[in-house]
Amino acid sequence: MAKIAIVGAGLIGRAWAISFARSGADVALWDVDANAPAAALTTIGEMLPELRRYGLLDDEPGVVLARIHAVERLEAALDGAAHVQENSPEKLDVKRELFAKLDRIAAPETVLASSTSAILPSAFSADLAGRARMLVAHPINPPYLIPAVEIVPAPWTDGEIVKRTAALMRQAGHSPIVMQREIDGFVVNRLQGALLEEAFRLVDRGLASADDVDVALKDGLALRWSFMGPFETIDLNAPKGVRDYVARYQSIYRDMFPPGRADWAGPVLETIEASRRAKTPEADLGQRQTWRDRRLMALLAHKRKAAGEIGD
Ligand SMILES: NC(=O)c1ccc[n+]([C@@H]2O[C@H](COP(=O)([O-])OP(=O)(O)OC[C@H]3O[C@@H](n4cnc5c(N)ncnc54)[C@H](O)[C@@H]3O)[C@@H](O)[C@H]2O)c1
Repeated sequence: MAKIAIVGAGLIGRAWAISFARSGADVALWDVDANAPAAALTTIGEMLPELRRYGLLDDEPGVVLARIHAVERLEAALDGAAHVQENSPEKLDVKRELFAKLDRIAAPETVLASSTSAILPSAFSADLAGRARMLVAHPINPPYLIPAVEIVPAPWTDGEIVKRTAALMRQAGHSPIVMQREIDGFVVNRLQGALLEEAFRLVDRGLASADDVDVALKDGLALRWSFMGPFETIDLNAPKGVRDYVARYQSIYRDMFPPGRADWAGPVLETIEASRRAKTPEADLGQRQTWRDRRLMALLAHKRKAAGEIGD
C-alpha cells in the first residue's frame, strides 16, 4: 500500500494511523504540536495488542507499529505520500490555512483529504490552485473499528481523485460512501440527525423516556441495521419487496412528519427498487429472509456473550 501522511495526530489522526498501518501502509505522523506524534505512538502501541486479541490485526502489533513514524517536519511527512489525511481542529480558518500549505508543499499527484465532520470541502478549498485534488474523507469514530467513511467532493474535485480515494479506503478495509456532491451533514450525520431529532421530540413531548428510546434502537431497529441498511430491511419486510412495502405501509408514516417529505412512491422508488433487485432478485427474497434471521441469531448470541464478558 502507498505511503500515507497523517496531518494532525489527535484522536482521529492516530485512529487513522492504525487503520492504514494495519493494511500495510507506511504512515508518517505530523502535528503542529511537536509532542503529539510521539504521544500518539504511545497510545497506538497500547491499542494494537487489544486489536490483535480480538482478531482484528493480521500482523503482530510490533510489525504494525513499526510502519508508523513520528515526523518532525511537514515536508518530510508529505514526501512520497500518495494520500494526506488531515485531522486538525474543526475550525474553518485552521483548515483553510493548512490546506493552502499542503497544496504548496505536496507533490501535484498527492491527494489531500480532510477528516472534517461538518465543513464542506468547497469551504476550505475554493481559492486554492490544487483544489481539484481536495475532498473530504469523513470517518466515523473510531475509524479502525467503524469501516464506513464518507467521500465528499467539492464541485471542482476531479472525479478520478474521488475514485482513487474510494479505492484506497477499500484497500484499508473501509467501506466508502461516495457522495455525488456536498451537502451539510453529508450522509451519516443527516441520517443520525433525523433520528436524533425524533428521539429528542419523543422525550420532550413526554411520550417515551430516554431509556426507552435507547431500547428502541439497541434492542430494536439497530439489530437489523448492524448488517443491513434501512432499504434492505424494508425490502425483506413485505413479500414482494420494497415496492410492496411502500404500497402497504407508507400511509403509516405519511402524517407523522411536517410537509416537505419525500414521496416514497414517486420516482425515487424506481431508483431504490432497481438497486435492491440488483442485489436480491424478487425470487430470492425468501432465502434472504432466512439469511437475515441467521444473522440476527448470531448477533444476539454475540451480544449475550459480550454482555457477560465485557459488561452491559
Ligand atoms: N472526534 C471525533 O469523533 C471525530 C469524528 C470524525 C471526524 N472528526 C474530525 O477530525 C478532525 C480532528 O478531530 P480530533 O477529534 O482528532 O481533534 P483533536 O483535538 O483530538 O486533534 C486535533 C490535532 O490537530 C493538531 N493541530 C492543531 N492545529 C494544527 C495544524 N494547523 N496543523 C496540524 N495539526 C494541527 C492538534 O495539535 C491536535 O493534535 C476534526 O476536523 C473533526 O471534526 C472528529
